[in-house]
Amino acid sequence: MSFVEFDSFYKKEHPCSTVFLSANKYVRKMKGGSQAILVQCDDDRFYIVKMGGNPQGPNVMANEFLGSVIAGAVGLPVAEGMLIHLSDHFIDSEPDIWFEVPSERKRPNAGLHFGSLLVGQPSGPQRSSEYISPSRIDSIANRDAFLGMYILDVWANQQDNRQAVLLRRSDDDAQEAFFIDHGHMFGGPDWNFRERPGAAFHLETSIYSELWYDKVVSSWISHFRTVLPEVLSWVTSILPPRWYSGDLRCLMEVLIHRLSNLTELVQNDAARSRLFVHQNSENDTLRLSDSGIHKFRTPDTRSAFYRNLAVSYAKFVRSDRVCFAKLGS
Ligand SMILES: Nc1ncnc2c1ncn2[C@@H]1O[C@H](COP(=O)(O)OP(=O)(O)O)[C@@H](O)[C@H]1O
Ligand SMILES: [Mg+2]
Repeated sequence: MSFVEFDSFYKKEHPCSTVFLSANKYVRKMKGGSQAILVQCDDDRFYIVKMGGNPQGPNVMANEFLGSVIAGAVGLPVAEGMLIHLSDHFIDSEPDIWFEVPSERKRPNAGLHFGSLLVGQPSGPQRSSEYISPSRIDSIANRDAFLGMYILDVWANQQDNRQAVLLRRSDDDAQEAFFIDHGHMFGGPDWNFRERPGAAFHLETSIYSELWYDKVVSSWISHFRTVLPEVLSWVTSILPPRWYSGDLRCLMEVLIHRLSNLTELVQNDAARSRLFVHQNSENDTLRLSDSGIHKFRTPDTRSAFYRNLAVSYAKFVRSDRVCFAKLGS
């Protein structure tokens, strides 16, 4: 059976074929070091695909996958991650897909790559934006999530500034934030943990104003301590084996350890980056009682989407390792 026959047979007949999608239309290349591409897939939706072998380094697809699954599982608003199959035919159909490095052009390999579901539409009024206007931060309906994401990023030793896209809601003038680009979480593409105070913040630091309350910080940390050990126990089993070259077991041990001293990690990072100037003040504690902080929601423990993905993906890997290898994941 040729690959094409195999692939269409596989997608039609395999009980777990919903685990991955195939790209069928190239739209454009995105800005950024990983040279990601915007594609349309066979579910008709658009994805930003970050391909294996991209110039950012070895574990970027694993970081993207782990970052989006973990952030989604703790209830943070994050662009959904997906496995996207790029065929040889698709890659050869468009020269723009190739990586451009100073010395050469490099062809990505066919196989499974990481896709981030496009927030909004590729063009028109529903196109998302990365620009955060300091004067309009209060129009971001879920702005409190930036504090939760910061704490998660400190835990995950994020090595780059946090990125998010904003989408204008159609029913009112509010905007909603979705976190993207997790390629530099987990000590960066080399899984090399080193403290870089303040690295995890979004570049538009006004987004954090008035968000820091010790009680809220403690709530996030205790939520992460409750949820993350279980998430870590299953997320590694659904990570495509060819998406990383580092020591996954060692990474998990480091992450579990960082959970136990997360309070200190966050305090040190915040203190050294001097962003939350009011933290620990008596005024904050007083304001807490009448500031509407009770609106703070305990995030969902795990979205149904990721639970389904985990279950079907684990079956997929177990049921047919030969198919998996043929797909070049
Ligand atoms: N899920 C998404 N929805 C909308 N836009 C996205 C999404 N993911 C990435 N982008 C856009 O694509 C650009 C490149 O993606 P990013 O993940 O930041 O790649 P890089 O690692 O190369 O910086 C981002 O700056 C953003 O404009
Ligand atoms: Mg980026």
